Amino acid sequence: MYATETLEEKRLCNIGSYEERLRGFDWAIAEKEMGWGRGDPLNIGWNLTDRICRLGLAKKPALLWEGSDGRERTYTFGDLRLLSNAVAAVLSRLGLEPSERVCLFLDRVPELYIAFIGILKMGAIVQPLFSAFGEESLSTRLLDAGTAAVVTQKKHLPKVRRIRAQLPALRTVVVVDAEGLALKDGEVALDLDSEPRLERFPIFPATAETPSVLHYTSGTTGQPKGAQHVHGSLVSQYLTARWVLDLKSDDVYWCNADPGWVTGTSYGIIGPWSNGITQAVLDSGFGADRWYGFIERRGISVWYSAPTAIRLLMRDGPQAAKRHDLSSLRHLASVGEPLNPEAVHWSREAFGLPFHDTYWQTETGCIVISNYPGMPVKPGSMGKPFPGIAAAVLDPATFEPHREPGRVGVIGLRPGWPSMLRGYWNNPDGYAKKFTNGWYLTGDRATVDADGYFWFVGRDDDVINTGGHLVGPFEVESALLEHPAVAESAAVAKPDPVNMEVVKAFVALKPGFTPGPDLELEIMNFVRKRLSPIAMPQEIAFVASLPRNRSGKILRRVLRAPEWGEPIGDISTLMED
Ligand code: WT7
Repeated sequence: MYATETLEEKRLCNIGSYEERLRGFDWAIAEKEMGWGRGDPLNIGWNLTDRICRLGLAKKPALLWEGSDGRERTYTFGDLRLLSNAVAAVLSRLGLEPSERVCLFLDRVPELYIAFIGILKMGAIVQPLFSAFGEESLSTRLLDAGTAAVVTQKKHLPKVRRIRAQLPALRTVVVVDAEGLALKDGEVALDLDSEPRLERFPIFPATAETPSVLHYTSGTTGQPKGAQHVHGSLVSQYLTARWVLDLKSDDVYWCNADPGWVTGTSYGIIGPWSNGITQAVLDSGFGADRWYGFIERRGISVWYSAPTAIRLLMRDGPQAAKRHDLSSLRHLASVGEPLNPEAVHWSREAFGLPFHDTYWQTETGCIVISNYPGMPVKPGSMGKPFPGIAAAVLDPATFEPHREPGRVGVIGLRPGWPSMLRGYWNNPDGYAKKFTNGWYLTGDRATVDADGYFWFVGRDDDVINTGGHLVGPFEVESALLEHPAVAESAAVAKPDPVNMEVVKAFVALKPGFTPGPDLELEIMNFVRKRLSPIAMPQEIAFVASLPRNRSGKILRRVLRAPEWGEPIGDISTLMED
């Protein structure tokens, strides 16, 4: 028994009254609960394991893991503490230093979660990258970050080997399942099942401002940017996990996101474990029956998912859900793309509970706008700002908040919350551009209604949001240009019933190449291999040339508008771009 709440307390959600929380809010509420005083050392790795064990929860399950092959493992908080100590010691012995970047390039295997904690414990910066990334997506990000080590598994090692010569800063590749493998120079095996567990490791005395996690995210121009987070982000992640996801001591929590993306670290590692919550991880792809079976078997009570996943479930109808006993579910939340009202209504029908939309970004590090437990959900709305976050819809001309409700503008946030990014890696100009008139600009457009609920309108840039994953058009266009047949390229968003948006490419061919379905398929696969299945164009239109402005910049908007049935707009002004 780990539950400490009475039945009466259980009926109440953690946040209690939103209005009361707004009044007199202070992040010190979280700091006090975590037993942390400003100026004290603060290490996320220690907080996720040692602190929880000190609370008497060493024997409580932390990770209930299931692999794609049906294998199961359970790790307690005590296991996580000792194993992450062991990883920290191994990395230190390998000569890795605090503040160096250590990349996690792993499927959702237990080693990913344990190494994440271990890296933070020895003071290095974790750089999680999605294991479906191809060589080019991987090398761009490792090169930019000057990454010193990559932790990976056998199946992904060939990709790392092929790009290694281009990465002068990369000294060590750690393989977590190297059995039977002939390792090369600079490659080491780390088998957590045989590595001695370590009772004590001198935890790196990070402060709230010490860099912790580096997450790459895509923008309109240039290659992806590394959003630099700090150990102090824990304060926001701890409290939002409590108040928005409503995590309670006897919950079994499931977050669908891969830690290659920020949801998978902020709420797939840090948020739940800093609260001492048991989480279940399923290391396999989507399947309605597989997912429902997992919820049933594991008794999932809080589920953090995404609109695309919900739309995929909807295709199988509510009956598919009703074939399982999903009565353990208590609270549902979603993130990453607009959550359409139909999905909220459908979830009431299928699960007897609404999905609560939450809005945030890689850069914000934590949920900043959301629908709260115990507060009426307005289907289609993202909800209200988290207490402690000042959010407004800004007039795009003046960057002052709109005074009347219902007017479209850019979502701005007042800087200063604990988990805000502290910069983009190697890119101070890109960071400076995110701030105007004292606001951090999200780059998303929205309205606010008279009750203070935010409604998403669209992005303010050319970034493509496919199934909750951001894809930078520049990255796709650069990959397309590497194909021998491609002379010019542009990538834009095209509407899609499940993924909301998919990548559509416009390509002008070099002389001597003939457009056709074979070439289309070949180019698609070329991008898939270099970047990822997510960034692969779902359609390629072969065109004679691409629309450009006078300075030669490709006008993606002209290509995008017809896909959405929108007017192209005034071309003469576009030409002035
Ligand atoms: C972008 C951030 C941090 C969450 C995972 C994605 C879009 C996010 C919502 C939502 C409409 C949303 C925005 C945002 N987005 N949540 N609830 N409704 N749009 O993090 O990869 O940095 O993407 O995703 O456009 O800026 P990310």
